[in-house]
Amino acid sequence: MKEKLDEILGRAIRELDQADQPQRLEELRVAYTGKKGELTSILRGMGSLSPEERPVIGARANEVRAKIEAKLAEAAARMKKKEEERRLAGETIDVTVPGTPCRIGSRHPLTLVRREIEDIFTSMGFSVAEGPEVEFGYYNFDALNTPANHPARDVQDTFYFSDNMLLRTQTSSVQARFMENHKPPLRMICPGAVYRSDDVDATHSPFFHQIEGLIVDRNIGLSDLKGALTQFSQMFFGPETRVRFRPHHFPFTEPSAEMDVSCFACGGAGCRLCKGEGWIEILGAGVVHPNVLRMAGIDPEIYSGYAFGIGQERLALLKYKIDDMRLLFENDTRFLHQFY
Ligand code: PHE
Repeated sequence: MKEKLDEILGRAIRELDQADQPQRLEELRVAYTGKKGELTSILRGMGSLSPEERPVIGARANEVRAKIEAKLAEAAARMKKKEEERRLAGETIDVTVPGTPCRIGSRHPLTLVRREIEDIFTSMGFSVAEGPEVEFGYYNFDALNTPANHPARDVQDTFYFSDNMLLRTQTSSVQARFMENHKPPLRMICPGAVYRSDDVDATHSPFFHQIEGLIVDRNIGLSDLKGALTQFSQMFFGPETRVRFRPHHFPFTEPSAEMDVSCFACGGAGCRLCKGEGWIEILGAGVVHPNVLRMAGIDPEIYSGYAFGIGQERLALLKYKIDDMRLLFENDTRFLHQFY
């Protein structure tokens, strides 16, 4: 019986050392020290022993039980510690791992150009005005000396919500609005989106942006217009920039002109950017037509003014050497992130 006890102890210790699951531990506890376990059945069989053997085996059996129980406790503690370590490892936070970078946006090239133009004109005393993109036909055309059936309405066809409401085709509509609410002397620019029925290509879009400019005061003439726009061009494109005015026609200005700047890439010699011309057109302008002043309740005998309309996309393409206007509207961040 003594040998049997030693064999049980040896086996129990081996099995307990190998156990790695709490469930297995419980199985072993039941198998060795449980009510129907091996040790219990040995103790139960003690009655068949001689009176001399009984206390010796009894003492040994108790010793074995104590050892197995100690081993059980040890294995339970070992498992608990392991489990604790696993839990901690799972919860570990490595504070030295770099954070997920948050992408910072950049300003759209059109915004950059608009701000620069605004800065230049506000430094000359112009204020910045705004007007609606859904506009009355009256402000977009009639008040600008372009009555119904005027051919200029054809070249600026647009989306009509009703007979007299449309998507504005030019920021010039804001001139007309501004003159209704402000008395001369006045000096304003108005940046904004405009719409025209046009097919999309590298230099055209049915949606684009202009900056309108308007001055009305006493004794304003073509020379003031040329002075201000020359100054603007040199501030925007560089001090060596020259300008050239070509006669043109707009219903709301008389005389009217388109203005070119000397090509800042080749200095006027002719290159790919200016298509060999040496000059690049950037705006339309002119002396405000007396009819336009009259429509706004301003006496053309006392006051006169000039107006101009700059294409923002055109300036952005030139300034940043972008060769396709569609890039400005596709919102591809790989393109947009090149500007800031
Ligand atoms: N509104 C004109 C256009 O869109 C530009 C312009 C503005 C011309 C002001 C003269 C004066 O073509």
